[in-house]
Amino acid sequence: MSALSVRHLLGIKEIQASDIDLIFSTANTFKEVINRPIKKTPSLRDTTIANLFFENSTRTKLSFELAEKRLSADVINFAASSSSVSKGETLTDTVNNILAMKVDMVVMRHPYAGAAKFLSRQVKATIINAGDGAHEHPTQALLDAFSIHEKLGSIKGCNIAIIGDILHSRVALSNIFCLQKLGANVMVCGPPTLLPKYINELGVRVETNLKKALEWCDVANMLRIQLERQDIKYFPSLREYIMLYGLNMPMLESLKKEILIMHPGPINRGVEITSEVADSHQSIILNQVENGVAVRMAVMYLLAGAKQ
Ligand code: CP
Repeated sequence: MSALSVRHLLGIKEIQASDIDLIFSTANTFKEVINRPIKKTPSLRDTTIANLFFENSTRTKLSFELAEKRLSADVINFAASSSSVSKGETLTDTVNNILAMKVDMVVMRHPYAGAAKFLSRQVKATIINAGDGAHEHPTQALLDAFSIHEKLGSIKGCNIAIIGDILHSRVALSNIFCLQKLGANVMVCGPPTLLPKYINELGVRVETNLKKALEWCDVANMLRIQLERQDIKYFPSLREYIMLYGLNMPMLESLKKEILIMHPGPINRGVEITSEVADSHQSIILNQVENGVAVRMAVMYLLAGAKQ
């Protein structure tokens, strides 16, 4: 197969395992390219891409922008905080104004679940979801799975635990869909109040004891507590959360095996993970960031091809 089954990347739920395999094999090629002395390819010359960020980002925004530049695309950036959105302009009007400037592809992060899907029905451009509320963050899941595959050689049959604030996490949902499509066994672990009510319908194992989750898994993907999405208190205190769900070196060393440690960032050092663990040889956090550029290059390259 040489083409994706979708025209937009709105979520991992909508794509096939064969799409993920194609993205990974294309990302492998781009990873080799961006490690050469001349890192750019002309693949998206004459393609204009708009990065629309209605919510803060460091990694995803920089990673998309670098990926676009490595592909020789023309890039325009939009941040809601410095735009006319604050004057009352609607999402569709904002985007239509940008598209009037002949934009081919839109990479959008938005605080509302479904915003990318809504946009894909309103405009002709190709839409890539860079995170929509607590719904999906598809390129994060792809780069996470790519990084696991790179380290372990295969994902099929691996035990992967996603630990922390599952309720508010778009990374968790996209990772669950992606890892299951690739044949992994997925567990979620966190305080009962931070596990969504629908979790049992997703076919994942559910665990509330961190030690048991770590003993079961080959890979632990640690998530931060998303205080910005919490309007009520979900646990008594941060101190208690750290005692029960914070990953530290003594706990890691007490396991009878070496597991991989992942984190999508931004990290709250000393909360969900200590600095020692984040910087340990078992951590692949910076490999995830590095792989993000190649994976996003692959997604944009393949979607641009699907449109032609
Ligand atoms: N992982 C991630 O989405 O990080 P940013 O919020 O910094 O983009």
